[in-house]
Amino acid sequence: MRNAQVRFVSYRHTSYSVLGDGVPPMCSCARVSVGLSLLLSGALRLGEGIIGNAVQLRDVPNAVKWTGPQMPLAERFGKAWFRMKPSQKTGQTKPGRAMAGACPVSVQGKTMTAEPFLTDAGPFAEAERAAVYRAIHTRRDVRSQFTDRPINDATLLRLLTAAHHAPSVGLSQPWNFIVIRSEAVKLRAQTAFAKANAEAQAMFPEDRRALYSSLKLEGILTAPISLCVTCDHSRGGPVVLGRTHQPQMDVYSTVCAVQNLMLAARAEGIGVGWVSIFDPADMQQLLDLPNHVSAVAWLCLGHVDALYSEPELQAKGWAQRVPLADLVFAERWGRRA
Ligand SMILES: Cc1cc2nc3c(=O)[nH]c(=O)nc-3n(C[C@H](O)[C@H](O)[C@H](O)COP(=O)(O)O)c2cc1C
Repeated sequence: MRNAQVRFVSYRHTSYSVLGDGVPPMCSCARVSVGLSLLLSGALRLGEGIIGNAVQLRDVPNAVKWTGPQMPLAERFGKAWFRMKPSQKTGQTKPGRAMAGACPVSVQGKTMTAEPFLTDAGPFAEAERAAVYRAIHTRRDVRSQFTDRPINDATLLRLLTAAHHAPSVGLSQPWNFIVIRSEAVKLRAQTAFAKANAEAQAMFPEDRRALYSSLKLEGILTAPISLCVTCDHSRGGPVVLGRTHQPQMDVYSTVCAVQNLMLAARAEGIGVGWVSIFDPADMQQLLDLPNHVSAVAWLCLGHVDALYSEPELQAKGWAQRVPLADLVFAERWGRRA
């Protein structure tokens, strides 16, 4: 069965019911006599999903019912579960207005946890899905196609908000966004790029140098906005959940923010060009970055009317996209899927 739902519908007593596609609603009510109002907002979509501790539901559960021992709710679930919801009138938290938390229920003999903050997570409608893939597949790194149309503040805010909703290690959100419109700052960045690019060119084998020098690898002065996305390595304190053994996770998180921004920008008709050919020390100085902060990405942003239909580096013969099949292994490194 797909799309089973657990609904929590009553005050004072809690009812759990299971509803399924084309299946008559089956209902099992377990009364939890606690004298507390408990309303779990929203419905949980269970069908193909994974709930709580990776319980997968494939079959219609005959019943979803309370399986915990008969004891007061607060004791049953502990404080973490038993969150008080502040009164809308007074803002004060009163006993009796509980916001439901993890709630053990049994489905076909398996105990699972219904989480109150879960929302519907079924697949998108076809057109929405297509739009997501379109953004992914048609996004391009832009160096030369920027128009001089300014990016309005509302659009920029949407892009930054998209970036800020990226995943981050331990929810540390190590990013900052430095919005650069000053021609003077851009000019200094361009100078730093030119120096690093000359050094880079010399590092490539001779037969690649001519091609390298023909490539345009930045659009700093033509893009209306440059955006530096930084990573604060001290964000979240000395011990961050998920970073304990791999400190580089903060940079990875910051890159997730960049990717979110790039995809949102594609949907807005804004091109993004990532410029990484800089000596990091020049960036530190240019942007006054403290020692615990690094510049992860210098992004050039501007409206675009046309984009390459394939990566520009591919179109110009520098590199080709590798077939996906060459990159997918099964179970261990090197074993072809
Ligand atoms: C971390 C990173 C750094 C990059 N640095 C540069 C750069 O300095 N100059 C440049 O022209 N492109 C840069 N790019 C863009 C890549 O060249 C581009 O993503 C790649 O060629 C694939 O093309 P596409 O993004 O248009 O699909 C960078 C991309 C990433 C992810």
